[in-house]
Amino acid sequence: MNFVPMEIMNQTTSKKRVAIVYGLRTPFIKSGTLFKNLTSLDLGKIATLELINRTEIDPEYINKVIFGTVLPSIKTSNLAREISLGAGVPASVPAFTVTSACASATQSFTSGVESILSDDTEVVLVGGVESISDFPVLFSKSFRNMLFDSSKGTNILQKAKPFLKIGVSDIAPDVPAIAERSTGLTMGESAEKMARQNHITRKDQDDFALRSHGLASKAQKEEIFRREMVKTFIPPEFNEPVIMDNSIRKDLDIVTLTNLKPVFDTEYGTVTSGNSAPLSDGACVLLLMSEQRAKALGYKPLGYVRSYAYSAVDPKDQLFMGPAYSTPIALDRAGLTLKDMELIEIHEAFSSQVLSNLRAFASRKFAEDKLFRTKALGEVDMDKVNVTGGSLAIGHPFGATGGRLILTLLYALQRRQAKFGLATICAAGGLGASIVLERE
Ligand SMILES: CC(C)(COP(=O)(O)OP(=O)(O)OC[C@H]1O[C@@H](n2cnc3c(N)ncnc32)[C@H](O)[C@@H]1OP(=O)(O)O)[C@@H](O)C(=O)NCCC(=O)NCCS
Repeated sequence: MNFVPMEIMNQTTSKKRVAIVYGLRTPFIKSGTLFKNLTSLDLGKIATLELINRTEIDPEYINKVIFGTVLPSIKTSNLAREISLGAGVPASVPAFTVTSACASATQSFTSGVESILSDDTEVVLVGGVESISDFPVLFSKSFRNMLFDSSKGTNILQKAKPFLKIGVSDIAPDVPAIAERSTGLTMGESAEKMARQNHITRKDQDDFALRSHGLASKAQKEEIFRREMVKTFIPPEFNEPVIMDNSIRKDLDIVTLTNLKPVFDTEYGTVTSGNSAPLSDGACVLLLMSEQRAKALGYKPLGYVRSYAYSAVDPKDQLFMGPAYSTPIALDRAGLTLKDMELIEIHEAFSSQVLSNLRAFASRKFAEDKLFRTKALGEVDMDKVNVTGGSLAIGHPFGATGGRLILTLLYALQRRQAKFGLATICAAGGLGASIVLERE
């Protein structure tokens, strides 16, 4: 049996509610383009400063700052602390950084929720950031050993000695792989495996990618993302602000998608750059408060946290099935069913991953074999899913996407005057997270 027991984390059963007072994100920008000279710290600061500005929250009221990120920033390992200080939050406010692959912002969010529910804090800034453009590059281990030995030398000869045997391979850069350590498979290869095992055709994947771009470009045209977005001026010129996600293709058609060659299995594969989320840079930040505190300060929150759950499966199985495992637990904890969810935001890492999860939601066999439940979670009504497109079109800055799902869901619930919504995300390592949100 390859089932890995759920990692049951915290249950939000107390009467106290956590309010999401406000949230913002930078545009999500294709890596190597408009934000290529900005760092994660820059992006996090830009979003946080604007949130403080717009909400007019006195920074003195903030009790904690938590940010998630995936690619480590070598010079600012506690990125949250630097964002906090850089955005003018008092130096006396603690800050920490979390990482949980693509669920990093989700983790910062629920860590903030827990901190409020446990009465440790009342006001927490949470968020997520990623600059894939600013990915860290290491020297090879052998070269780092030479540098280490050299640093111990007390004169020039001793300092030079470790480098005498240097070879070309020693100076080759060591770049981070977007691959699963325990299986060696890249994320794209894992998506291929899911497509194969769940019989998700190339056409299904391309149709879903087209849907994502179609809905996102409609939303962009209607300026729906404006509310959740901070205009981002790029230093040093600070000329024209960046105000739009730049991976959304407004004139995309199925023929263009069909003609793309598979990237990860070039011979027999079905996963292409069109049905994979593009590598992106961006940041997202949310202001959390206890309901009581939010109301006392006169805020009208965007929504409240009803419940949440995390899951983990063996990465050797299907890597991105997290939502299919964490959603039933989150719904049980919320005392609600899938049908009660008026909107669903599911992270689109790859078309094959979203479609695999949605099929698992509807599958009695999956429920019986993997969840040990007698009934499937249910068929999803696609009119409720990613109604303004998803990561395939909008982009996917790893550490920030979990926050964007929450933000996008809250604004969508508001537009539809709906009450309950689900945000769910898969992550490398076989992780999954689901959050049920509610409006007043
Ligand atoms: C798939 C991936 C490898 C593509 O990277 P890339 O080759 O640098 O992507 P590009 O943007 O250069 O696109 C390659 C080509 O596809 C085209 N393309 C990309 N997205 C497209 C889309 N949605 N529709 C049509 N064409 C598209 C580009 O125009 C480009 O065409 P060209 O070569 O004629 O210029 C990269 O986006 C990736 O690794 N994504 C997955 C990220 C990941 O692992 N996430 C983890 C999830 S947990």
